[in-house]
Amino acid sequence: MRQHVFIATSLDGRIADGNNGLDFLQQTPNPTGDDLGYGDFIATVDAIVMGRNTYDVVAAMDIDWPYRIPVVVLTNRPLTLTEEQQQQVRPCCGSVAEVMAQMSDWGYHSLYIDGGQIVQQFLAADCIDSLTITQIPVVLGQGPQLFAELTQPLWWQLEHSQVLLEQLVQTRYRRQR
Ligand SMILES: NC(=O)c1ccc[n+]([C@@H]2O[C@H](COP(=O)([O-])OP(=O)(O)OC[C@H]3O[C@@H](n4cnc5c(N)ncnc54)[C@H](OP(=O)(O)O)[C@@H]3O)[C@@H](O)[C@H]2O)c1
Repeated sequence: MRQHVFIATSLDGRIADGNNGLDFLQQTPNPTGDDLGYGDFIATVDAIVMGRNTYDVVAAMDIDWPYRIPVVVLTNRPLTLTEEQQQQVRPCCGSVAEVMAQMSDWGYHSLYIDGGQIVQQFLAADCIDSLTITQIPVVLGQGPQLFAELTQPLWWQLEHSQVLLEQLVQTRYRRQR
């Protein structure tokens, strides 16, 4: 099984602002609607494992359910799902090892790991194989961080780096084991 992160951060490593808002992701002019590599990335995974906070933010958006692949929400609380979501969303909980065993039982082989706390838990367990980070040129100063403390450094191999929309730097790293 492989686990991948595809996420956008501020220059100070934050994944949302101090109000859990994501407006900073939409500030860069994008006249052609470039998806910044999301479509190519999502085609490489067969399920999304996201934290409850991320799920709550997406579920509260005034948009249709945006995912076309199964979504596993890590949560310790009951989930209230719409009819549309019931086909695609499953709750799960436990340690990283337990969650990965469950994903394997459900037949998933390539996971998109999403949400700050979830990424941090998978990194702490050294269970992330690739990291794609799109850096937005803003210092937010407040908000949840992508990275937390680790007991040992994790080294990565740079695979690709590109400038997008003349403003964003997207970098893909593979875990160097
Ligand atoms: N910039 C980006 O690209 C990007 C991407 C994703 C998310 N975001 C933003 O990041 C913010 C959310 O990140 P976050 O770090 O606050 O939270 P998160 O990782 O999305 O969710 C954390 C929550 O998940 C549950 N949880 C965590 N580990 C668990 C486990 N092992 N088993 C069961 N439940 C577990 C807990 O909720 P309960 O115990 O309460 O159930 C916990 O409070 C949102 O604002 C979101 O919009 C930004």
